[in-house]
Amino acid sequence: MRIPIIAGNWKMNNTIRETKELLDALIPLIRDAKCEVVVCVPYTSIAVAGDMIKDTNIKLGAQNVHWAGKGAFTAEISADMLVELGVEYVIIGHSERRQYFGETDAMVNGRAKTALLKGLKPIICVGETLAEREGGLTEKVVTTQTAGAFNGIDAESLANIVIAYEPVWAIGTGKTATSQDANDTIKVIRDEMARLYGAAADAMRIQYGGSMNPKNAAELMAMPEIDGGLIGGASLKAEDFSKVVLY
Ligand code: PGA
Repeated sequence: MRIPIIAGNWKMNNTIRETKELLDALIPLIRDAKCEVVVCVPYTSIAVAGDMIKDTNIKLGAQNVHWAGKGAFTAEISADMLVELGVEYVIIGHSERRQYFGETDAMVNGRAKTALLKGLKPIICVGETLAEREGGLTEKVVTTQTAGAFNGIDAESLANIVIAYEPVWAIGTGKTATSQDANDTIKVIRDEMARLYGAAADAMRIQYGGSMNPKNAAELMAMPEIDGGLIGGASLKAEDFSKVVLY
């Protein structure tokens, strides 16, 4: 039994004041959520968000973590810094990091390994671009990214890792993959995990992400391979996010 996990990815949104407003509105709305709920907030909001949600059913997440323990890596953030603030989950390899900041599968792998070593739970993102989809490369791209991200990670760690399948063309565009397409590609990812890890892959949670919202959440969540969502735009409004979480 895989417990569904729905995570908000706030990206570069919400000052401390806005964080307080959003969480004040959100906390009472999702008290009865049956799934695991996470908010991945900007670094500047981690402390205040952590404080506000500590006695709730919402878990604290960040949006990246560096592979090195510490050192001369201007503007990066270390696992110890996140752990100190009570962070539990961390997004790694989001397509915006891959697209705009040149993150490679090797970097994603390094970040994931360090996160695990320090007790953080990675949410590892994979997904194809529109050109790759149209070129028939979806399966190749997601299996390559998956194998790259998990290089050297042992089977015992799988319980602490979530994969987010996010077709790049569906992120922030209002275009959602059909629930069938999303399910099929997630199956491809799960099969790749099974090739790498055998039966342990069955227990892994794989989310869908990309314009998931109150209107399409129920249909996506009903698919057998989809174990949750990584929610961008719709996580910025308490009411929308609560409707996704209560799908
Ligand atoms: P979106 O973003 O829901 O705004 O499409 C999802 C994501 O990038 O994680």
